[in-house]
Amino acid sequence: MRSYRATTHADLGTLKEPTNRTYYCKKHGKICKPLFSIAGWWKRYVKDTVKRISEFNKIRTDTFQKCLAGDSRTINIEREIKKKLFAFGTLIEKNKIDGIFSSPPYVGLINYHEQHAYAYELFGVERKDFTEIGPLYK
Ligand SMILES: C[S@@+](CC[C@H](N)C(=O)[O-])C[C@H]1O[C@@H](n2cnc3c(N)ncnc32)[C@H](O)[C@@H]1O
Repeated sequence: MRSYRATTHADLGTLKEPTNRTYYCKKHGKICKPLFSIAGWWKRYVKDTVKRISEFNKIRTDTFQKCLAGDSRTINIEREIKKKLFAFGTLIEKNKIDGIFSSPPYVGLINYHEQHAYAYELFGVERKDFTEIGPLYK
């Protein structure tokens, strides 16, 4: 959705004014133009998504996932899991956690809540700006 806006290639995250005409592109070192229609990229991304899901289906294993939304600095994983899935939480408590993969925020470069404001609105997700690590506005 973000890529479909009237903006420059170098400024996908911090747009203030729409760009409706060709411009000198700092990212590509040439004259570029903003998107004038959502259709082309929409079709391309939809096809790509279907392809990725079908590829993933071939290698998918029988693992179990549960999503927790919380502040990574303070969330008590065992307790939160236990609230939702008691048996699984007890298993984690007993066996402990072997490791955690993280994709941490780009500190000082992005306002994640702002960047994804449309998603909070579309899906009715509660915003928690005050828990965001290293937002650009700070
Ligand atoms: C580099 S992005 C990783 C995005 C993720 N891999 C994905 O595919 O959606 C960093 C993420 O960390 C999130 N984040 C920022 N502060 C956080 C916090 N205190 N606890 C948990 N996540 C946080 C941001 O909202 C952002 O979605």
